Amino acid sequence: MPALVLLGAQWGDEGKGKATDLLGGSVDYVVRYQGGNNAGHTVVVGDQKYALHLLPSGILSPGCTPVIGNGVVVDPSVLLSELSGLNERGVDTSKLLISGNAHIITSYNVTVDKVSERFLGKRKIGTTGRGIGPTYADKINRVGIRVQDLYDESILTQKVEAALDVKNQMLTKFYNRRAIAVEQVVEELLGYADELAPYVADTVLVLNQALEQDKVVLFEGGQGTLLDIDHGTYPFVTSSNPTAGGACTGAGVGPTKISRVIGILKAYTTRVGAGPFPTELFDEDGEALRRIGGERGVTTGRDRRCGWFDAVIARYATRVNGLTDFFLTKLDVLTGWEQIPVCVAYEIDGRRVEELPYSQTDFHHAKPVYEMLPGWSEDISKAKSFSDLPKNAQAYVKALEEMSGAPISAIGVGPGRDETIQINSFL
Ligand code: IMP
Repeated sequence: MPALVLLGAQWGDEGKGKATDLLGGSVDYVVRYQGGNNAGHTVVVGDQKYALHLLPSGILSPGCTPVIGNGVVVDPSVLLSELSGLNERGVDTSKLLISGNAHIITSYNVTVDKVSERFLGKRKIGTTGRGIGPTYADKINRVGIRVQDLYDESILTQKVEAALDVKNQMLTKFYNRRAIAVEQVVEELLGYADELAPYVADTVLVLNQALEQDKVVLFEGGQGTLLDIDHGTYPFVTSSNPTAGGACTGAGVGPTKISRVIGILKAYTTRVGAGPFPTELFDEDGEALRRIGGERGVTTGRDRRCGWFDAVIARYATRVNGLTDFFLTKLDVLTGWEQIPVCVAYEIDGRRVEELPYSQTDFHHAKPVYEMLPGWSEDISKAKSFSDLPKNAQAYVKALEEMSGAPISAIGVGPGRDETIQINSFL
């Protein structure tokens, strides 16, 4: 029962789409287990480039069943437009399965996300404004709307009433906005019911049966380890669990079923939104990483903050996820630097610290301690095996592997599907 979890080992945008897609051909099910359309995967197939936000990237692999698990939050209008966009380009999406227990991002959740960020002013999180946090808040507060509620109008109306009861007080009295009418929301949500119906399924049952039949199931995390609500740089995090445990709760499979946990690790570091980032660069090196790496958000179009590789974070990701492998991405972006700094530890108030500090105050004060590794200037995009890489690129990868605590089993040397060096098989 090969069940693989594939997740971001840093702050998201590590190039997960490419890794998932690489496995797509041999995978029977690709499952998203958390997050929503705050994610952004770019997948390049031939000369076609696809930007996916909510759909699992397995949707592009014929023969693979894409699944939206119970832990995901679903904006129905985004989902339907993403599906029709793919259909127009000839992609068959009919195999998609959506958990009836997944929560729905309603239009009022999007409104609350935007007004609360505005209200926070300089303390804002820098959310994607897609209603993710407020939808998870409703879920935890037990006033959420689930996909299955679209098929019982009376229950749906009661639930929307309950959700809007407090929100309308807040919107009108606190944020100075107009109240939202229950009927309008119910009508909008019911309008999605028929189109979504063919996809709605008991995904927990389907996935557990698939594992019993020895099918290959890939659980695809959105965002990244350091954006995890429990294990990330709280409060500058997303509102779900991208870490490996999230795959179990967000898809309804037991931890004993998971066979491999693969962390996607960029050869340098990026972050979108606010929050601490010890190796962030504000100079021309940062600019160059952004330009060469194309570091602009797929979802928001925002420039990503860029910095050198941080081994402290990678070690932390290995620990909290129980990583068995790394997929190192975007190594080609580092071509051309004479020397490449790698953060091996932090200095916090004059002390050298080897592991991620649990105290937020300490993390905010962490200064990177760099080791300089020799760079390379040869084009590496055509490399097919590890030995094709220039000696210094090999040494860079080996050094990262040693510092990060798990084997690097694949290396991305370019954006295309075939621009990957596979060292160990994931299956
Ligand atoms: P939210 O997920 O929209 O609530 O945003 C919370 C934080 O997570 C913000 O800093 C976002 O920029 C960040 N974030 C959300 N989704 C992604 C992603 O897919 N990649 C990188 N950062 C993300």
